[in-house]
Amino acid sequence: MNRSLVLALAALALPAQAAQIAISHRGASAYAPEHTFFAYDLALEQDTDMIECDLILSKDEVPVCIHDETVDRTSESTGRVDSFTLAELREMDFGSWFNTANPTLAKPEYAGAHIVALEEQLDCYLRINPKMRFHVETKDSAGGRAEQIFFDLLTRKGLIATGDVANGNVQSSTVMLQSFDAGSLERMRALTPTIPTAFLFTAPDQTTLPWVLAGDGPDYIDAFAPNSAAILLDPTSVQRFHAAGHDVHAWTVNDSQQMSLLLQLGVDGIFSNNTDLLRAAIDSAGTGTTAEERGNPASFEHGCPGIAGRVSSKDGPGDVWEPTGTRGVRLKAGAGSSSGGSSSSGGGTPPADGGRYGGGLPLYLLLGLGLAAWLRRQGIGRIQPSR
Ligand code: G3P
Ligand code: CA
Repeated sequence: MNRSLVLALAALALPAQAAQIAISHRGASAYAPEHTFFAYDLALEQDTDMIECDLILSKDEVPVCIHDETVDRTSESTGRVDSFTLAELREMDFGSWFNTANPTLAKPEYAGAHIVALEEQLDCYLRINPKMRFHVETKDSAGGRAEQIFFDLLTRKGLIATGDVANGNVQSSTVMLQSFDAGSLERMRALTPTIPTAFLFTAPDQTTLPWVLAGDGPDYIDAFAPNSAAILLDPTSVQRFHAAGHDVHAWTVNDSQQMSLLLQLGVDGIFSNNTDLLRAAIDSAGTGTTAEERGNPASFEHGCPGIAGRVSSKDGPGDVWEPTGTRGVRLKAGAGSSSGGSSSSGGGTPPADGGRYGGGLPLYLLLGLGLAAWLRRQGIGRIQPSR
């Protein structure tokens, strides 16, 4: 049997894969201070699909985007994030450390960059691009308070309804929740069946090894998000997760060759600090979303004027959104502009299988999708699944 025929049969046996997405890890954080508007703006400029937020609650329970449990590494201050109110965090400089650590990339305007409240991240980038998506990670559940507050926030903002996991529509959701703590995902699923979840892991442990071997886990996990090394050590794990209906998001990949390899292995998304390199790798593979599906504008006002700095508590003020029916939202009710602070500084129809594979689709459709995937890999026409 010749090689092409073997490949064709293999492709027919496999369900088609949804478009592969670029996830900007802490923003385009290779080039600008992580989790600031500078890094998020750059991620949009570099044409991302999703922006990440590592979520921690401030002392007054406002969800803010910051990776470490302390402010020590990414500010000039010291102490636990949850020991400061939002107002106190807003006084800190989250940009100067980057200039010191990266002299060749340093910019004077980074000095004094502000922390970003999750609600401001959402409002800012949805105003610029209503199709933007957000990968939010609970870093510290604060005894379950973080999931409840995150749920309350999404409910108040009309974003809960963008997710439709119960009907298998994972890709329509404006927001996903990721965590290393499966309990966090379970708590979120108990609060709402709509928001898709992703389970992060490095080396599989006693609990997760059976999930990795089976390619499947508890019902409250929609996607699996392994460290890239875990995939490279066990490349067929991607197929196992797909066979059980789960998307795979790999982290954190900043090398172009490794990006290409992981894309070839079929991962559905990659977290990267280097959004530009990732966009180039996905474009080169020809397996990404279209520019129209992403919806990023060619230009926009940087630093989120009018939004940066306006959130003052876990109750906003912020915008209210409503789903458009496919990927994206429209503004339902806008909040007032910021009364001051950081605005000028800048720091200041989803797939029928919902991104899942196989489950319940008629055989003729699976065969058609498999053939389409094979044709695409052969370079015979580029066929994009709907998102
Ligand atoms: O969330 C994906 C990846 O970011 C997990 O690692 O430590 O960078 O949050 P970390
Ligand atoms: Ca993260």
